[in-house]
Amino acid sequence: MSVLVINGPNLNTLGQREPDIYGRETLADVEARMRQYGDAVGLVLDFFQSNHEGAIIDCLQAKAPESQGVIINPGALAHTSIALRDAVAALSVPVVEVHISNVHARERFRRRSYLAGVATGQVVGLGTQGYVLAMDYLIHRANQGGGA
Ligand code: DQA
Repeated sequence: MSVLVINGPNLNTLGQREPDIYGRETLADVEARMRQYGDAVGLVLDFFQSNHEGAIIDCLQAKAPESQGVIINPGALAHTSIALRDAVAALSVPVVEVHISNVHARERFRRRSYLAGVATGQVVGLGTQGYVLAMDYLIHRANQGGGA
């Protein structure tokens, strides 16, 4: 089973960026932890990070259809990008939206996610463990035969 893992704008600076909110782990640390878990449970992960909306949409269009699921932390694009929402809506594989911080407990503008209505579900506010929980969900879903 292969899963595409996408991180959007500013997530390349994880570890240095507002550590009180996002923690001290780097994106490489998180990806290594996910890779280790993936190896243990039989998930092949394909990682992509970009600060550019169009590059993320290009990646989704090119790679998501051949995967069995997508884990995406869209960063601030969650709150702004109808184009990204449309790209996710066009997919038939399950898509889990992850936010490291609890966006509902922060500024008001972070409460709305354009992706939420077209994603399969969200993991919000559980730190970087949210990515691993999203992996667990995708495995569980596949074992159940595809439904939620
Ligand atoms: C974030 C939350 C967003 O509001 C923010 O713009 C990010 C990170 C998170 O993982 O908590 O870049 O997606």
